[in-house]
Amino acid sequence: MRMGRDMKMSLHRLRFQTIESRTRALFFLFLAASCHGRDLTGNWVARDPQPDGTSRDTYLDLKQEGSRIRGHIRVTQYYYNVVESTGGPDNFTLICSMMDGHNERRVEYQVKLVGDEVHVATRRRPGSELIEMVAHPAPPGEGTLPQRLPLPEPHAVPDNGLARTPPMGWNSWNKFAGRVDDAALRAIADAMASNGMKEVGYEYVNIDDTWQAGRDAQGNITSNKKFPDMKALADYVHSKGLKIGIYSSPGPKTCAGYEGSYGHEEQDAKTYAAWGFDYLKYDWCDARNLYTDEEMRAVYQKMGDALRKAGRPILYSLCQYGRAEVWKWGALVGGNAWRTTGDIRDSWDSMSKIGFSQDELAPFAKPGHWNDPDMLEIGNGGMNDDEYKTHMTLWSILAAPLLAGNDLREMSPGIAAILTNREVIAIDQDSEGKPGRRVSKSGDQEIWAKPLSGGRQAVALFNRGSEPALITVKWSILGLKSTPAHARDLWKHADLKLYGTDYSATVRSHDVVFIRISD
Ligand code: GLA
Repeated sequence: MRMGRDMKMSLHRLRFQTIESRTRALFFLFLAASCHGRDLTGNWVARDPQPDGTSRDTYLDLKQEGSRIRGHIRVTQYYYNVVESTGGPDNFTLICSMMDGHNERRVEYQVKLVGDEVHVATRRRPGSELIEMVAHPAPPGEGTLPQRLPLPEPHAVPDNGLARTPPMGWNSWNKFAGRVDDAALRAIADAMASNGMKEVGYEYVNIDDTWQAGRDAQGNITSNKKFPDMKALADYVHSKGLKIGIYSSPGPKTCAGYEGSYGHEEQDAKTYAAWGFDYLKYDWCDARNLYTDEEMRAVYQKMGDALRKAGRPILYSLCQYGRAEVWKWGALVGGNAWRTTGDIRDSWDSMSKIGFSQDELAPFAKPGHWNDPDMLEIGNGGMNDDEYKTHMTLWSILAAPLLAGNDLREMSPGIAAILTNREVIAIDQDSEGKPGRRVSKSGDQEIWAKPLSGGRQAVALFNRGSEPALITVKWSILGLKSTPAHARDLWKHADLKLYGTDYSATVRSHDVVFIRISD
């Protein structure tokens, strides 16, 4: 049978098309294989959806050459370089490193290709629980670190006139961490307004990390499911006669991996003002991946300027863990307070290490601008009441912000009495604004003194040891020539009659005797 010319042509076309589509299919297969199928080369993401509607993502941007793997891993505030890879296709071990200021942080990731997925296992810290996740191909570039932004020249941001005495209030992080939501915040405001705390000066109710969703089409920051209406929440807190605080980071991501203010500083400051916020805690976090410690000042100045322009007084609290000698420039960037240390934990060890290490920072604090040794852990359960008394005394002697960090809805009377001791709070809030100093140390016993308005002094006799101790303070080491005429025990709420050249008290282990003296 003879084929007509047309038929031959269409057969030819068909064969050609088949070859073409087969080639195309093969080409895509090859592409897929070379991107994600054959080895670990590619951009991968393991998504971990959160109940608040956000997703905690781990990005692995990897390049495999034989059995060597290079690249980056990014999760929350961490951006690691893969610096070492060992093992083979059925399990690679990647040693990942990042610089955190001048310190190196290392973690290990195990990765293996299974079909078109990457199975990932890691531990946050050596010895902590194993976290396993599955990563899938991510669009190229998604999750990579953005460019650094140009930084402003240094100048002095004008004083906003706030925080003439150390800020007082509450912050969600220590007790609630990622579980804070609108209902909890309202309940805390209710408690603060009705349990006596407001009367003794607690004022700010502050939301810490994990409130953010992302950005809308205009780049405005949005809150996640836990906080359906930030303006309504601020109105509610204000209706209780209290103020409200918010949290962000100069980095693209906050420490918990939520949206930061990077590149949106002015826009965010305006949003906070429009919502009615009165306080911003600005946490370095992911900014460490873009800027050096030496550049912190310029980065913080940028938000200081943005807050000044926002049209509402907003207390500015710097949180960069006391790096780059922040006490020397914190006030110049508009800061009302600056963290002087890493994060506090609810333990005697953590609290006492922080509290007793602040002596030399005393000269840098003044009305409007305070050293911040981190929030209070009083009432969170990791210390006994004597230790919490020491915590409250130390923070007051240091003229530190008093931001309670416990669940104010369920406080024991003992804890409430510690947090609301007016006489101790008055030391913290003294109008002179001068932090106290260590005046003597003998083994585990320390005496600290704080100058107060009207020529008075607050004197604390601390026993850091594990046995009761007799501690004696001589009036001469406080610069006094004679016995003070008046003395008050601030924890016993009792006047004391003083005689002679000194005062002695037996102080229980981890407890304190706190007195105020005057002529
Ligand atoms: C850092 C801060 C903490 C808290 C967390 C939130 O660790 O120092 O006070 O804000 O981030 O992620």
